[in-house]
Amino acid sequence: MIPMALNNDDKAFLKDVVWGLKQNQKQLACKYFYNERGSKLFDAICLLEEYYPTRTETALLKTYGKEIASYIGPEVCLIEYGCGSLVKTRILIDALERPCLFIPIDISEEHLLRASQNLASQYHELEILPHVADFTKPMVLPKQARYKNIKCVGFFPGSTIGNFSPSEAIKFLKGMAKTIGQGGGLLIGVDMKKDEKILVQAYDDNSGVTASFNLNLIERINQELGGNFDVSAFKHKANYNNIKGRIELFLVSLKKQTVRIQNFEFSFEKNETIHTENSYKYHINEFISLAERAGFFTIKTWVDEKNLFSLHYLKTGA
Ligand code: TRP
Repeated sequence: MIPMALNNDDKAFLKDVVWGLKQNQKQLACKYFYNERGSKLFDAICLLEEYYPTRTETALLKTYGKEIASYIGPEVCLIEYGCGSLVKTRILIDALERPCLFIPIDISEEHLLRASQNLASQYHELEILPHVADFTKPMVLPKQARYKNIKCVGFFPGSTIGNFSPSEAIKFLKGMAKTIGQGGGLLIGVDMKKDEKILVQAYDDNSGVTASFNLNLIERINQELGGNFDVSAFKHKANYNNIKGRIELFLVSLKKQTVRIQNFEFSFEKNETIHTENSYKYHINEFISLAERAGFFTIKTWVDEKNLFSLHYLKTGA
């Protein structure tokens, strides 16, 4: 096999993949879901009947937008972490009083630039500075956000915080508090613990979109790293771990097989799994105390009437 030429991003991707597939419980980092195709599939997940978080959070933003905006205050710099298609952002921006700067951060470059251009064509007054970055790593914001002496407010919807373990989440929120600075705020969406059936269905829909999204990860390894995964020899699995309070996603090998990626070989037993994602669910008080441990205090929490999803407005220590 002729080795593929890899750029630096691919090399980091390869290093993570090789490390993950060498572990006893094979694993792949969920941030690699979001290539161009993955980001599109994720948008499709958000429209699924079974995937209640998106529409519930969107409804909360619509219902309480003005109240949220009054807590946030006027003329802020809004920083969104992992902005996807910016659908929820529009609702928030419409509710805010004269926001002056918007910094959407996403790992998926084309997706981010397209969504930002789209937004810019509708919001002429708003300065938009898209920032391509892996927000799980320490990051420096574009300098406009630092030298302008304005209040920064983070926006972290979609329960992406649930994709970190609780201890990682605390570390991550601490970093966010630093980026946002003293006196800044954070509006964060957090999925709640609930009936297990509802949870599992949200991550294993009938039309198989989530399955395609999960399987896209190994397809991506084939395309970008020259792997030879037989995608049809794996299936998607979602499971609720009651003890840890999290949804777990896996790719299950349907047979005993060997996969090559560059010069590496990985063998799979029949039914052996690759762990691809966790999505932690939090009771309101569990999340409030987690945020506290990261140096945030809660100003207000909003929950829908079915107790499915929560939105929290937090502030960094005074
Ligand atoms: N933050 C989302 C969540 O945990 C991400 C997500 C939704 C997801 N559906 C998924 C990730 C399916 C992987 C597979 O709900």
